[in-house]
Amino acid sequence: MPIKYIPYIPNTVEGQAVLDNFSRTRRVLRYRDNDKIYDRIKRGMPYYEVEQTEQIGNNTENLVIRGECISACAYLKEQNIKVDLVYIDPPFASGADYAKKVYIRRNPKLAEKIANAEQKMDNSELQAFDEKMYGDIWKKEDYLNWMYENLQAIKSIMSDTASIYVHLDWHIGHYVKILMDEVFGEDNFVNEIIWAYTGPTNQKNNFPRKHDNIFIYKVGFEKVFNGDGIRVKFKKSTKSGGKTALSGKASDEVLEKLDKKGKIPEDWWADIADLGKVHSEDVGYSTQKPEKLLERIIKASSNEGMIIADFFGGSGVTAKVASDLGRKFIHADIGVNSIQTVRDRLISAGAEFAVMEIKDGVNLFRNPVQTMDKLAKLIPGLQKNTEGINKFWFGAIQDSKKGTVPVYVPNLIDSKEKILDIPLINKIVNQELQNLEIEVKKAIIYYIDIADYKEIQQFIKDNNATQIKVELLDLKNFLHDIVVEDIVEYATTETDGNYTTEITKFASDRLIQKIGEFNEKGNSQSLKNGKEFNPIKISEDGLELIEMISLDSTNKTGIWQSDYEIKIDKLGYIIFNGTKTKDFWDGKIESKKKPLRLKIRNISGDETIIETK
Ligand SMILES: C[S@@+](CC[C@H](N)C(=O)[O-])C[C@H]1O[C@@H](n2cnc3c(N)ncnc32)[C@H](O)[C@@H]1O
Repeated sequence: MPIKYIPYIPNTVEGQAVLDNFSRTRRVLRYRDNDKIYDRIKRGMPYYEVEQTEQIGNNTENLVIRGECISACAYLKEQNIKVDLVYIDPPFASGADYAKKVYIRRNPKLAEKIANAEQKMDNSELQAFDEKMYGDIWKKEDYLNWMYENLQAIKSIMSDTASIYVHLDWHIGHYVKILMDEVFGEDNFVNEIIWAYTGPTNQKNNFPRKHDNIFIYKVGFEKVFNGDGIRVKFKKSTKSGGKTALSGKASDEVLEKLDKKGKIPEDWWADIADLGKVHSEDVGYSTQKPEKLLERIIKASSNEGMIIADFFGGSGVTAKVASDLGRKFIHADIGVNSIQTVRDRLISAGAEFAVMEIKDGVNLFRNPVQTMDKLAKLIPGLQKNTEGINKFWFGAIQDSKKGTVPVYVPNLIDSKEKILDIPLINKIVNQELQNLEIEVKKAIIYYIDIADYKEIQQFIKDNNATQIKVELLDLKNFLHDIVVEDIVEYATTETDGNYTTEITKFASDRLIQKIGEFNEKGNSQSLKNGKEFNPIKISEDGLELIEMISLDSTNKTGIWQSDYEIKIDKLGYIIFNGTKTKDFWDGKIESKKKPLRLKIRNISGDETIIETK
């Protein structure tokens, strides 16, 4: 439940009624859900409790925030933090579900036997399964309404000279351009960058689609633009034939100077390769963008010391480049994967920052897409596609006393469904309960947030014309109870003031379940297509399921401080305190100080913290 709601509009104009201000945000484009969005904008951005979970180094201005864009903006607004440049690369409405490969690591106990083979192993030989990270499947109206709220939220925390770069492509870019005219004002449109790249294509009946669109808007009269910081070479030197208006009259000396100075790149960028060609940067995050792209944007539209924000931060390219260029950074993302990826990436880059967690209730099963996938299996007795119950309902439970019980579950991927408010309960009571084609005694409504529990109960009492009992249940409580922590067995020994912590056993129900599903699918496909399938087998001690071990020798509770940490990369090599090594993991971690807490991250990213004995 949000602590409160924070207005979107930066400042109400003095003497002007607040509602007049909202009329400036009235939609020009008309979509089906416009009115709902209007209500939501009027209500404000949900401000949730925010907890700092980790501190890396001393800097507390650089932030890595796990949470939705809108809630992250509400937090910044509440803290009076303004950002000087925003780059976002939100989901493109591409129709895809993005997944990450989860690699089974090398087991240190079997290390000697397989060490030689491992040395020669390449990526294609590693055992891995896919895990969903985030979904990008939207109805156009839903996407645009969602984007409208996000843009309003971002605008409300931009400084007067800030610019925003919104990175999209042919799927939805043209609609968002109009939306941005609406939100930022047509006069504040700065430019559209075409980022063109090459690469393999299987489009035979079309010009291969090989560019993205990046829309730039400003918010105030002035904006930062450092043309000199991003100059590139002329394709042909002005002196030796590349004609410029000057070349007729100018001396060789002037032309040489001009060549040396170069030019500000035009608004089409064909000189920045996509990630497929810069493997060294690849951190295994789908849709990761190249650092060079962000380098140009950040150099052009910000100065050293300014705050650069990315609210759909993904792999953390914006934060990484901002940090490299001496800027402050704010990285927000809804997914735990993103937060872990950027955390590790920034540590390797030597950055200092705070990690924050927004308690918005969607951080269940690592991200909303996986949670939605899981839910159907987790609600006892729930069946999808019950006859007489339409798609509004998530499914129905067959109860021996109550008969068929329809169950409503908010779509966690769509933030506007998270709150059970009067319009939603009105729809349920006055429409959906009445539309049921079978006899029903009871319906269950799950919610993540509820506008006002008492008011909603009263509304049901006053308006429910059916005999159906409506039960309201908090989905967070339900999910909280069924997540089982991983089990770690370890022993710490001390010799001459040095500590060795050895992990002897690791078990993860969540991973075993995922691997089980992967093997089952592989086996059944193999039966169908006759191709050999090599199922993933996990050893007794389960050490190949560990990705990272971190020791906190400073705090026994509260904010995590990683004093010693090793990360095991997919080839089995250790990254020690952010620095890559060519050593294989031996099942141990050494420390100079006594560990007070031990944190283990499994290969899928779930973290378990144990207070040491
Ligand atoms: C296209 S990716 C960004 C990739 C990033 N630019 C990079 O180079 O790695 C979009 C990201 O938006 C995140 N996301 C989706 N919905 C979100 C929301 N409502 N708030 C914050 N992040 C969200 C996803 O988890 C994903 O990491």
